Amino acid sequence: MAEASFTPRVFSGIQPSGDLHLGNYLGAIRRFVEMQATGVETVYCMVDLHAITVWQDPADLARSTRTLCAGFLAAGIDPEKSILINQSQVPEHAQLAWIFNCVARMGWMQRMTQFKDKVGKNAQNASLGLFAYPALMAADILIYHATHVPVGEDQKQHVELTRDIAAKFNHDYGVEFFPMTKPVIEGAATRVMSLRDGAKKMSKSDPSDASRINMMDDAGTIAKKIRRAKTDPDALPSEADGLEERPEARNLVNIYAGLNDQTVDQVLAEMGGRQFSEFKPMLADLAVSKLAPISTEMTRLLDDPGEIDRILASGAQRARAITAPILARTYEIVGMVGPV
Ligand code: TRP
Repeated sequence: MAEASFTPRVFSGIQPSGDLHLGNYLGAIRRFVEMQATGVETVYCMVDLHAITVWQDPADLARSTRTLCAGFLAAGIDPEKSILINQSQVPEHAQLAWIFNCVARMGWMQRMTQFKDKVGKNAQNASLGLFAYPALMAADILIYHATHVPVGEDQKQHVELTRDIAAKFNHDYGVEFFPMTKPVIEGAATRVMSLRDGAKKMSKSDPSDASRINMMDDAGTIAKKIRRAKTDPDALPSEADGLEERPEARNLVNIYAGLNDQTVDQVLAEMGGRQFSEFKPMLADLAVSKLAPISTEMTRLLDDPGEIDRILASGAQRARAITAPILARTYEIVGMVGPV
């Protein structure tokens, strides 16, 4: 099977842990919606198996999974067009992950910077699952023969590992079975940084809630967080060059541009020369007007969790039509005896 014969298919995943925030929306989910609109086959996954590589309270995990699903739906993921699933309900992900645990090398895993950053000096106390995390991610992608994976810059190394695993599997077994998946990296324009520190990505694991805008924050909270966002004393420049060395200013302009579907230059052409005391309330109004319809729809969806669970069940069924034959063929390649 030549590489050219892989039909384009997009896969991406988000962890259901903590609240859904603006960074997930502008950096990931909105791009997922755009890819869905191109007509290419798209599979989007709530990676609950990845979430438990660090401790998750069971009730919180279930709530976060449904909240994330509501976020996907409210932001425009159409479960008729995209396959929308939670990872644990498509067992072939975990089954292929085991095979990949036996393909990936210890040395490869030890080089993963995310693992090293997460565990710091406490590697001995990390779960084995956290170490194996990237092999499960490779399985998520390759169990669909996905050709393109939209991810943030921080996940690039994991997609490269996915290619290494695919190449070693193909080589060891003398097949051309798994594709060389391409990462589609988010641009700086869609990367949303912390409101407290323009050098750090907006993250659900940041202990300060003021560092992020949660999709379910009310209007007052959004306005307050933006008002208190870290900035510098200068006025906004008229061109993007003027944002160099001003990470916090750049972040707020990026957010404005993202929410308003504009380029940074377009925003600055209009806003250049304004002080933050003037710009921040405009940004707050824009954020509230764009996010309110999404959070209202999320609240409506979360009122009926049964409907969310039905959508996920039907997504899992559609997913398994793809994943079951790929796993069966993998087992056959590896030499696992099974029904003929
Ligand atoms: N590791 C990704 C993150 O933390 C989430 C993820 C899991 C993922 N499996 C994936 C992303 C497969 C893309 C493809 O952001």
